[in-house]
Amino acid sequence: MLQVEEFCCPTCKGVLSFQESEYACSACSKKYPVILGIPDFRVFPDPYIDFEDDHKKAGHLAEQYHKLDFMGLVRLYWKMTPEVSEDRAERFIRRTAALVEKGAECLSLIESLAETEKLRGFNRVLEIGCGTGGFLVAAKRKYDHVVGADIAFRWLVVARKRLEELKMNVPLVCCCAEYLPFPGTRFDIILAEDVLEHVRSQESTLAECRRVMTKQGMLFLATPNRFSLTPEPHVRVWGVGFLPRRWMNGYVKLVKGISYENIKVLSFMELRRLLNKCLFTNHRILLPSISCEEAQYFSPFQRMQLAIYNVAKQIPVLRLILYVVGPYFNVVVFSSRK
Ligand SMILES: C[S@@+](CC[C@H](N)C(=O)[O-])C[C@H]1O[C@@H](n2cnc3c(N)ncnc32)[C@H](O)[C@@H]1O
Ligand SMILES: [Zn+2]
Repeated sequence: MLQVEEFCCPTCKGVLSFQESEYACSACSKKYPVILGIPDFRVFPDPYIDFEDDHKKAGHLAEQYHKLDFMGLVRLYWKMTPEVSEDRAERFIRRTAALVEKGAECLSLIESLAETEKLRGFNRVLEIGCGTGGFLVAAKRKYDHVVGADIAFRWLVVARKRLEELKMNVPLVCCCAEYLPFPGTRFDIILAEDVLEHVRSQESTLAECRRVMTKQGMLFLATPNRFSLTPEPHVRVWGVGFLPRRWMNGYVKLVKGISYENIKVLSFMELRRLLNKCLFTNHRILLPSISCEEAQYFSPFQRMQLAIYNVAKQIPVLRLILYVVGPYFNVVVFSSRK
């Protein structure tokens, strides 16, 4: 657990005190409980589940915590979530198992990008939207001070199991990306992978990243492309991004019977506009490499698409086209406050 002075009030950024398993802000009188050993600093709930049900679900997972191993707990989670179809859940489970390797690859990329800016001496890492904590494991193998944050309280119980099995001490914090409970200039590396498209406010999220990033720090984002020619990756429906935003939810409901209400995927131009608006003057939008680790879970057709993508990435004119209709973006932002 982090010391009380390593937190601040997520709402007013005032100083907190800690008493009887809750944090209290004397400036705005707000209180934040610690439940199952995890501080809950949320200002609003996960859009998919209210505070109470999230805590309840976390409680059910905690009851089985010592009887199951990490993957057992992940399977239990999806069993407790019947609204997600079995084959979708199976896809999520497979992805969860591969996240540590993916995290290690992502960290190598981050480090090589930092090297190009001659940024060294990183030690403090924050992952926003850490989910089941795969990246946290990879980060903890290399850095002393790693913190995982997520709005989904229940997922943090699962992430803790993954970390505990590996005897890793990584503080987990339940909070909103738009209201981080950390004082300013704290983290050298901030990572949010597949998160930007899920948050309530993309602008506030980036403003908070900027606030907590150190002067030599960097932010790394991974996010899908709205105009990708491949199916929308969350719902696997073709063409969603080409519709006006107000039609997207209705279209996905019609085709797949699931909601698309809380997802906002950006195009290259929308992403660039957002970064500029948030005063991230020193940023780069990159075309990611898809890892072999991930590719092994692809269908033969997807592997063929990946091979075409990898070739196209090497050819300048095709690279430009991939910025318009490629599947994914990586974004790296360097703090410009040297
Ligand atoms: C698609 S998952 C990605 C999880 C993980 N980063 C990965 O790559 O596997 C998105 C994560 O972002 C979290 N999230 C969504 N909105 C959030 C918000 N406003 N603040 C913090 N976390 C949020 C979700 O709970 C979820 O764990
Ligand atoms: Zn406060």
